[in-house]
Amino acid sequence: MNAAPRSELFAPETKSLLRFLTCGSVDDGKSTLIGRLLYDTKLLFDDQVATLASDSRKYGTAGDDLDFALLVDGLAAEREQGITIDVAYRFFATERRKFIVADTPGHEQYTRNMATGASNSDLAVILVDARQGILTQTRRHSFIVSLLGIRHVVLAVNKIDLVDFSQERFDAIVAEYRVMTAGLGFETFQAVPLSARFGDNVLTKSERMPWYTGPSLVRYLEGIDVARSAEHQPFRMPVQWVNRPNLDFRGFSGTIASGIVRPGEEVVVAGSGHVSRVKSIVTADGNLDEASAGQSITLTLEDEIDVSRGDILAAASARPELAEQFAARVIWMHEDALQPGRPYLIKIGTRTVGASISAISHKINVNTYAPEPARALALNEVGEVNIVLRDAIAFDPFTEIPGTGAFIFIDRMTNQTVGAGMIRSGLRRATNVHWQELKVSKVARAALNHQKPTVLWFTGLSGAGKSTIAALVEKKLHAASRHTYVLDGDNVRHGLNKDLGFTDADRVENIRRVAEVAKLFADAGLIVIVSFISPFRAERQLARDLLDDGEFVEIHVDTSLEIAEQRDAKGLYRKAREGLIKNFTGIDSAYEPPERPELRLAGGTSAPEELADQVIAYLAENGYLERDEETDWSI
Ligand code: ADX
Repeated sequence: MNAAPRSELFAPETKSLLRFLTCGSVDDGKSTLIGRLLYDTKLLFDDQVATLASDSRKYGTAGDDLDFALLVDGLAAEREQGITIDVAYRFFATERRKFIVADTPGHEQYTRNMATGASNSDLAVILVDARQGILTQTRRHSFIVSLLGIRHVVLAVNKIDLVDFSQERFDAIVAEYRVMTAGLGFETFQAVPLSARFGDNVLTKSERMPWYTGPSLVRYLEGIDVARSAEHQPFRMPVQWVNRPNLDFRGFSGTIASGIVRPGEEVVVAGSGHVSRVKSIVTADGNLDEASAGQSITLTLEDEIDVSRGDILAAASARPELAEQFAARVIWMHEDALQPGRPYLIKIGTRTVGASISAISHKINVNTYAPEPARALALNEVGEVNIVLRDAIAFDPFTEIPGTGAFIFIDRMTNQTVGAGMIRSGLRRATNVHWQELKVSKVARAALNHQKPTVLWFTGLSGAGKSTIAALVEKKLHAASRHTYVLDGDNVRHGLNKDLGFTDADRVENIRRVAEVAKLFADAGLIVIVSFISPFRAERQLARDLLDDGEFVEIHVDTSLEIAEQRDAKGLYRKAREGLIKNFTGIDSAYEPPERPELRLAGGTSAPEELADQVIAYLAENGYLERDEETDWSI
């Protein structure tokens, strides 16, 4: 066994690092190319080469030659299915540079992995098979790469040996690619004809293509300067944390997103507009006279101004914009579609803020780049949308400074990244609406009623018994002199929500509006009884979040589909089964039961009267029905 790798990677001198992403369809030879890079730059242990030789004989598809794809397709599943299933990072080095390759799968449903790889990459190598030329996948990959902010692209025209090293074929592919990607904003572009299998134009120039005058792939990757453009943009640094080890030192740490900073320069805290000057640039290796995009530093300032995590420190002479609404291009990466009105978190720089989509202008067909109408964005779909934030944030249009113009969507329940986007521009509010402070508060209104404002939120399948129980609960509360109001799905859909149907998007909007109305009624001091299927957890959570702690009581009327369908009081289940009603909850539209409701009612087994009593008992036991007699009525 040979323990030492035959590589330069661990040489002590510091070399610049290039991170790149490879994308290609299943048979374009991506794994072979990466294997070839590792082999040619000698980053393999001798025993790995021996294993590779024996594996190539056993499983390979390259005859007696080494099958480099086997080297890279290390995951068992990949070998079985012949596809790559996750992002894998590989390292190699030459004398001039170190490289990290993000190897991402070509399959459509794995856009998310590709986005993960792209988010850390400076450049993309897009592979095409010289025999196949540009495919739909090539369009898709190029678009996503552009969308995710990669500005440097190499088109690797692979398997050139299989088209007899034809210059004509190569030129035709490159010409088609150039036309196709003209609008994608790539700053640099290089096309390289190569054969990953035989190594032509990978590390060294091939003698078999004398017509090609450009560099080999590796020479090109060694030479390209990807940092330059970010350095020419105005200075921006999202603050990762405030470093305060003792009372004498207060520094702001982060990675510079763009531009250059020097001591003495004027910087602004983008959100507050406070201005100061840079006192020093501190790093683990001592203080610097200058730092630029990509470097992680700690800045100290001349003045004691308020700066916190999530703020952006920016050049005072070229400030970011500030807005709480903006237009953006979004790519969705989750099986649950992006729905307008649904609450999400977005993370931009080091700041995380609540957000929702107020409108989808259109989606973009990623295969043709044509706009198409859309009400939601499904997995892998790209759209132009308007976003509303809970608080204003500082940002730059993505085309000006990608580092402060790109963001990701985070699911509030699972914390997963579910989408990514680029800000086009800030949007002004249609009118200047400010919250009007009123003289009488919710507490005062409720006190007059001697009760606690509460929202009793009934959720469950159609025919579960929600409305029947809700009506009984209201009757009992009313009899006990409580001030109530019932919001019932069928009724509200006759008026306020009569423009809405039963698509997921419409249900999201239905519940968003009802949640807002329930909040207003609670503010009026009432006990609000809401009876809606409200099938999605996200919107029930939204309703909960609109209210104060303890005001929201989620009641799951837990009746099985079988029983609800058997009852079929309105004959809707029968129609749904016959296909006469589309998107019927429980049949062809989802119902997500609450995970931790305040109260669960066994809808199928007990009489409505009994279940209503259970609700009243719950309210009594938990202090919801206590009379407030303490209020001083004198005026
Ligand atoms: S929700 O899903 O958006 O919360 P909501 O409670 O307002 O639904 O309305 C549900 C009522 O609409 C049902 O009780 C039923 O009477 C009626 N309805 C008509 N079509 C459908 C459908 N496709 N799915 C569910 N309910 C439907």
